[in-house]
Amino acid sequence: MPRGERPLDAGDGVLLRFAHDLRQLRQKAGSPTYRVLAGQAHYSVAALSEAAAGRKLPTLAVTLAYVRACDGDVTEWERRWHSLATELSAPDLDQAGDTDAEQRPPYVGLAAFQAEDADRFFGRERLADDLMARLAKQPFVAVFGASGAGKSSVLRAGLIPRWGAEHPTEPIALFTPGPNPMEECAIALARVFGGTPGPLQAELDRDRRGLHRLVRQGLAESADDNRLLLIVDQFEEVFTLCRDDGERSRFIQGLVMAARAANGRCRIVLGIRADFYTHCTAFVELVEALQDSQITVGSMTPEELRLAITKPATLSGCTVETALLAQLVAQLTGQIGGLPLLSHALLETWRRRRGNTLTLTGFQAAGGIEDALAQTAESVYTRLSPRRQRLTKDLMLRLTALGDGTEDTKRRIIRSELDDDTDTTFVLDRLVGARLIALDRDSVEISHEALIRSWPRLRE
Ligand SMILES: Nc1ncnc2c1ncn2[C@@H]1O[C@H](COP(=O)(O)OP(=O)(O)OP(=O)(O)O)[C@@H](O)[C@H]1O
Ligand SMILES: [Mg+2]
Repeated sequence: MPRGERPLDAGDGVLLRFAHDLRQLRQKAGSPTYRVLAGQAHYSVAALSEAAAGRKLPTLAVTLAYVRACDGDVTEWERRWHSLATELSAPDLDQAGDTDAEQRPPYVGLAAFQAEDADRFFGRERLADDLMARLAKQPFVAVFGASGAGKSSVLRAGLIPRWGAEHPTEPIALFTPGPNPMEECAIALARVFGGTPGPLQAELDRDRRGLHRLVRQGLAESADDNRLLLIVDQFEEVFTLCRDDGERSRFIQGLVMAARAANGRCRIVLGIRADFYTHCTAFVELVEALQDSQITVGSMTPEELRLAITKPATLSGCTVETALLAQLVAQLTGQIGGLPLLSHALLETWRRRRGNTLTLTGFQAAGGIEDALAQTAESVYTRLSPRRQRLTKDLMLRLTALGDGTEDTKRRIIRSELDDDTDTTFVLDRLVGARLIALDRDSVEISHEALIRSWPRLRE
């Protein structure tokens, strides 16, 4: 049991089991203190520790923030939360608010938006409409974009609710491939069609028509024009996490077959980090399927940024000071890694709101974009070995164009210019994970120019 936590009461209640498993997750993550978790999860220490106290069901948002901060399986915990909420006959707990967790924030911070965040998801209307239009015409769509561009968010909070509203009788499944894509796919199918994942996986493994067959069987009882919308987010995990070449090929072939077979009943959407584009081209079927099916998630226009900033505030009864709005739009327009920073800054500013107003002062008190970046950079850096710290600095310098009498600016470099030894890859992964740099198709770039100005180490 992590240090300092009150032992759970004895008993076998569902809430106690839930709390116990949350605690175990924290232990597995190396027993970070609740203060550390709070920093990552954007909830108070009290809200997070109460979530694992076993007295009442925490809100979905707090649970998922806890799980995310402990590197747990968010999809699995989300499923668990819903089934527990049903079991406890408490359907609207998420809205009811948790005494410790203040009211539900209008912004989500560094997390991706989930389907239940649709009511506070703005700025991607055009993109979500494009996705809907493409899916009406074709059964396979691949959504590419730089790391942190907002792919997961538009799939979950943009596409899923729209599709659900337009096609209320059609099932939707979403999963991330992880190290065992076939197993994840079987679990996702079991969730929508019923049955147990084991036999479904055996059927998937049988041949490349496995997924195609299972979807047809699963929909056998429903109207002829019903289809399954199958979303595979973080598709790049089939290259980064799945170690089994055979499983990777079978998975990819099965997906493409299910989408493209003449009598197929499946629409498939992949969310892929653009820097894995070349990996995809090693698979003939995928190359063919990708020919006319790509959508790119780019940065938001100033108008879209305005919507993303003001709409969630308005809907929760707040307003955004004009000066703050102007500053945010100016600072974030055209920045490839801008959205995570925006989302983080907005949440912190909301926490410091004056009455019902998000103010420029509040934004500055939260450290603005600069401080957030500098603090994140420093905390990643101090945890690296001296060799990796040196590599980090070298990399950052290569990503900076020194100004001649003007401010230094960021400079994009080609990924293949970098070594691909273990240490460089490790450093790159950490910096991308912390949203400090962004990877696009074949390039590497600092997420936001402000990092160059605000991180003192770069000038040491
Ligand atoms: N419409 C939006 N409004 C405000 N913030 C957004 C929006 N879309 C995404 N974000 C924020 O941007 C960040 C990155 O979003 P998301 O995780 O969806 O990106 P991604 O492209 O899936 O990233 P990755 O490449 O790591 O998978 C998150 O902090 C999210 O809250
Ligand atoms: Mg994502």
